[in-house]
Amino acid sequence: MSYECILTEVRGEGARKTGLITLNRPKQLNALNGQLMDELGAALLAFDADEGIGCIVITGSEKAFAAGADIAAMATLGYMEAYTGGFITRNWETIRQVRKPVIAAVAGFALGGGNELAMMCDIILAADTAKFGQPEIKLGTIPGAGGTQRLPRAVGKAKAMELLLTGRMMGAEEAERAGLVARVVPAASLLDEALAVAGQMNELSGPSLMMIKECVNEAFESGLSTGVRTERHMFQSLFGTEDQREGMAAFLEKRKPAFRHR
Ligand code: HXC
Repeated sequence: MSYECILTEVRGEGARKTGLITLNRPKQLNALNGQLMDELGAALLAFDADEGIGCIVITGSEKAFAAGADIAAMATLGYMEAYTGGFITRNWETIRQVRKPVIAAVAGFALGGGNELAMMCDIILAADTAKFGQPEIKLGTIPGAGGTQRLPRAVGKAKAMELLLTGRMMGAEEAERAGLVARVVPAASLLDEALAVAGQMNELSGPSLMMIKECVNEAFESGLSTGVRTERHMFQSLFGTEDQREGMAAFLEKRKPAFRHR
């Protein structure tokens, strides 16, 4: 399938490879419009369904992961168009359906919908040039793709309130200290680092990765006892997989496991 607003490639050497998606509207700093989000949704679902793909990496340009929803595309919307037209509903949450791990490799601006997209990924790796923020308040509006919900869960209420109410951007180091990003790396090695993390996961057990992702997401959707119960059931269910047999046998036999992802 050919896309206009994103680029897709398959990277890696092993049996399971990495699906790389590059947001590609450089003149608009990867501002997110309906076409880009439709293409991103289609690419994510295609990689998720591909048995040869273990993980997905989403990245942008050196200057911007994404500078937010496309302001030109929404500036004159009326309420009914916004509500029925699907500008921020159609395919904005498709990424949540993806069961394989998704890494956001963020350099430059991740603002508004760009930060919301990064927060919908499972791991955020930041270049030292990354800048995160929810500047919607400066446009007389508010986040519309989960920013007011996911930012406080990521960085706590105090910092989230300050960022959301003022529109201030925070740099990569601050974002790491606050818990928004997993790790900060030099900009020049961002993509290599993200592909290396993906490559490590590609060697691991696919069903276990999916279940960890499901359990961690459950931690943010439900109470502690429900989450712990879900985790216990998933842990028990993994005794029905070949990968659990292989992983534990390999440990006991002091060799590297060869997972079959089932
Ligand atoms: C449309 C955008 C854009 C955006 C940048 N551009 N951000 N176009 N939507 N979100 C365009 C600019 O208009 C400009 O086009 C080109 O990209 C380069 O941007 P500059 O402003 O010239 O670059 P710079 O001076 O380096 O400033 C970078 C910036 C600034 C700080 C990121 O562009 C900026 O503040 N952008 C808006 C950020 C924002 O408010 N995001 C939240 C959007 S609302 P031309 O044609 O002039 O070269 C949102 C709500 C989400 O995301 C709701 C749910 C989805």
